[in-house]
Amino acid sequence: EIAYYKDAFVDMDEKVVPIQERAHQFGDGIYEVIRVYNGKPFFMKEHLTRLQKSADAIELQLPYSMKEIESLCDEGLKRSGLADAEIYMQISRGIHPRQHFYPDPACSVFTMTVKQAKVIPEDLRKQGVKVMTTEDVRWKNCYIKSLNLLPNVMAKQKAKVNDCEEAIFHEDGIVKEGCSTNVFVIKDEKLYTYPALKGILHGITRQIILDLAADLEIEAVEEPFDVNFLYDADEAFISSTNMEIMPIRQVDDAKLPSNRPLTVKLIEQFQKLY
Ligand code: PDD
Repeated sequence: EIAYYKDAFVDMDEKVVPIQERAHQFGDGIYEVIRVYNGKPFFMKEHLTRLQKSADAIELQLPYSMKEIESLCDEGLKRSGLADAEIYMQISRGIHPRQHFYPDPACSVFTMTVKQAKVIPEDLRKQGVKVMTTEDVRWKNCYIKSLNLLPNVMAKQKAKVNDCEEAIFHEDGIVKEGCSTNVFVIKDEKLYTYPALKGILHGITRQIILDLAADLEIEAVEEPFDVNFLYDADEAFISSTNMEIMPIRQVDDAKLPSNRPLTVKLIEQFQKLY
């Protein structure tokens, strides 16, 4: 594994972040997580496009061009010696005596880590995971991949304590997304997921799944649905860069059917992409 901070590659444990770095004083920045399969970053362009979108949304100037970020990823991968890796990158508004308004001139800082990817055991994927629902107490701009993850961290801890893999945010009963995943339901052979509005992260995996569904001629419905609809699902799953497609076997007290024909099809097609 290897890390990068500001302008140089460093060891993962090296002390490099100054006290007045805005990422840790304000959570003032954005991030991306990119999976690498067999040496090749997966849907890199889409992740970098989303990074630019997040940057624009918080009026943050990226310190590097997309080309430069891509070569930093390549260089990081090479130095890590890893084939199946997870690239984490974040851009903060920089290092500056603490004040709320933006530093002027801009002094954004790029951080990256390249680590071994956690491989999801295939029998867990067969079994599916338990999830719980929890109230969405986050802000209105969750489409921005912001470093401010306190509600996500707290909900994930609540899930862990309750022996669940994920906590799923609902707003007045409407299912939005998980702490670090998007949520899908299959009902009467149609695929449902919350629409790509500002209230959820527009997951790259989510979009891949919608595209695969179109290929498989599964009708996709991007419309809000409630927690009861999730309890009554024929099939349901969560999705993310690290989890890919992970079936849900139980939501709160509702056990879902263990036969999941369409989810299995989507998983098969997804795994052909890398
Ligand atoms: N999380 N929703 C939220 C709130 C997320 O944080 C994530 C990703 C997703 C799935 O997005 P994608 O398919 O692009 O990974 C949905 C990353 C992996 C994380 O925070 O580690």
